Amino acid sequence: MTIRWKHLIVLAIIAPLLGLAVGWSGLMSVRASTGHWAVTDWFLHWVMRNSVSARAVAVGDVPPLDDPGLIPGAAGHFETGCAVCHGSPAQPRPDSVLAMLPPPPNLKVVVPEWTDAELFEIVKHGVRFTGMPAWPVQSRDDEVWSMVAFLRKLPDIDAEAYLQASGLHGLGHAGEVSPLPITCESCHAESKLNDGSFVPRLAGQSEAYLLNALKAYAGKTRPSGIMQVAVGTLSVESLPELAAYYTKQTPAARAGAVHDPILIEKGRILAEQGRYADKIPACLSCHDKADANPAYPKLSGQNSAYLQNQLALFRSGGRGGSQYHHLMTGAAKELTADDISAVAAYFSAR
Ligand code: HEC
Ligand code: HEC
Ligand code: HEC
Repeated sequence: MTIRWKHLIVLAIIAPLLGLAVGWSGLMSVRASTGHWAVTDWFLHWVMRNSVSARAVAVGDVPPLDDPGLIPGAAGHFETGCAVCHGSPAQPRPDSVLAMLPPPPNLKVVVPEWTDAELFEIVKHGVRFTGMPAWPVQSRDDEVWSMVAFLRKLPDIDAEAYLQASGLHGLGHAGEVSPLPITCESCHAESKLNDGSFVPRLAGQSEAYLLNALKAYAGKTRPSGIMQVAVGTLSVESLPELAAYYTKQTPAARAGAVHDPILIEKGRILAEQGRYADKIPACLSCHDKADANPAYPKLSGQNSAYLQNQLALFRSGGRGGSQYHHLMTGAAKELTADDISAVAAYFSAR
């Protein structure tokens, strides 16, 4: 018995030392060029699948993914954040990434193999040791779900539909757009937005507010994976230029948002009077009045899907923003889901 124990102890000491010796000797190959053995390849992917499936159980309820407003922002982000590795319906994977180990798969083919919760898990957290990155901002599950909604559509869309969805269609021919905002226009062009868009209208917003917002994304005090990537490569000096560009745009005339008049009336009362019992201030005491602080955003005519999403973020404390954002976090704390629909309907139709 004692001899057996001794053997085990000696083994426990020698095994790690042997491991270290092999690592130190340089005999282990880390060459990507030679690929994995088939069995290693199978094993790694098996481990990855099991890990993703196990963690997807804790993801919880899948929100509705069929809202068309979710697609454009995610498709635009896919083009800058994902297509470089995975290719897109408009462009195959470049040869340079096919030499990665493992190579990024063609998502059109593999997406149907995963459930919504599994895709959420992969897109939010990435995959270690493979180059597949995590979502840049871990607090924005709503953005990750919008990407899952887009991935679900991916197998069925062709190049033309992809260019439309990602906003790349016809870009560069507009003539009026100066070079800098071209990438911004792929998502923010007035012509692409409607009341159901989660991407906000920028035209006519004050320069001070736009600049504060861009600085907040760049400085990560306003968490958004999509906007963080969009401003990530810009110099600080270009931000005022972009704010000036959008503040000078005139908001395009468009048919007023169609909402239930009763809902709009409920929103109007809240906007004008607030609700004393719940310490909700009147929204119009800060927003959209003639002598308002220019650093406070205009809400009238903004897309209601965007307004609702931002209000939900403020209410949960996850919106962040400029040095003034705490004012709004206080104002949103006691809003109910019905209040949010009502004020969003009121302001978008205004
Ligand atoms: C730097 C390259 C790179 C970028 C950028 C990238 N990926 Fe990946 N992705 C990979 C690689 C490599 C894998 C393979 C992982 C594996 O097989 O374990 C992968 C795997 C995946 C998978 C799982 C597919 C499967 O069956 O293995 C999904 C889904 C996915 N990526 C979506 C995305 C999305 C959405 C984005 C953009 C937000 C993105 N990826 C950005 C490299 C990348
Ligand atoms: C891939 C799509 C996409 C691109 C490209 C993009 N944006 Fe955005 N933008 C969004 C989304 C989505 C939001 C809302 C993010 C949030 O939840 O905070 C947003 C928000 C903003 C806001 C905040 C507006 C407000 O009312 O608070 C500003 C300002 C802005 N973007 C400017 C820009 C500029 C300037 C560029 C170009 C450098 C750009 N965006 C590129 C999708 C995009
Ligand atoms: C005390 C002043 C104040 C009051 C009252 C107020 N807000 Fe705000 N609100 C702000 C400020 C300041 C911001 C911008 C925060 C930032 O710069 O990041 C803001 C931002 C917002 C945004 C985000 C807009 C965008 O483009 O991203 C929405 C939506 C909003 N408020 C709705 C409301 C509603 C609805 C009410 C009433 C229930 C309300 N606010 C009451 C000060 C206020």
